[in-house]
Amino acid sequence: MTLEEELHVKKIREGTVIDHITAGSALSVLKILGLTGSGDNVVSIVMNVPSQTIGTKDIVKIEGRELSPDEVDRISLISPKATINIIRSYKVAEKQKTKMPNVIRGIVKCVNHSCISNSNEPVTQIFIVENEEPLRIRCHYCNRVMNKEDVIGQF
Ligand code: CTP
Ligand code: ZN
Repeated sequence: MTLEEELHVKKIREGTVIDHITAGSALSVLKILGLTGSGDNVVSIVMNVPSQTIGTKDIVKIEGRELSPDEVDRISLISPKATINIIRSYKVAEKQKTKMPNVIRGIVKCVNHSCISNSNEPVTQIFIVENEEPLRIRCHYCNRVMNKEDVIGQF
């Protein structure tokens, strides 16, 4: 991290730093994590800072909170180059790179109301990832194509 970025937000003691978020997606990350501002967690958001690897990026720092596997999977969909750093005692204890899966199971619903995956049948939602950025996923059952906005809308 460059000194310039370092100056934006101080280091945290315990919690999670989601770094290298696709610029403009920080608020969607907050939405995925259910962080509305009404809880007690201290949350810092940095938007549109220069990044050595991805042009510009957003960063979200959440004190006193770690992420569930489902939350990580959802973040991967809207920000496939994000890095999730678990901070303990001021140190990066774990670093996990998100990765866009080829197939998405169970975390996204089809927007087609008459799709079999929205009926009472016990079927797991399945989408094929056709393009990473901009996101384009196709329902395995009805072939409906969905984009990032469709996905964010249901988180
Ligand atoms: N960080 C933090 N508080 C800490 C430790 C780290 O807020 N106590 C933040 C850093 O500011 C950075 C991210 O967590 O945004 C990852 O930290 P680090 O691995 O030290 O930085 P880099 O080596 O630049 O990470 P990468 O290689 O993933 O780009
Ligand atoms: Zn469908």
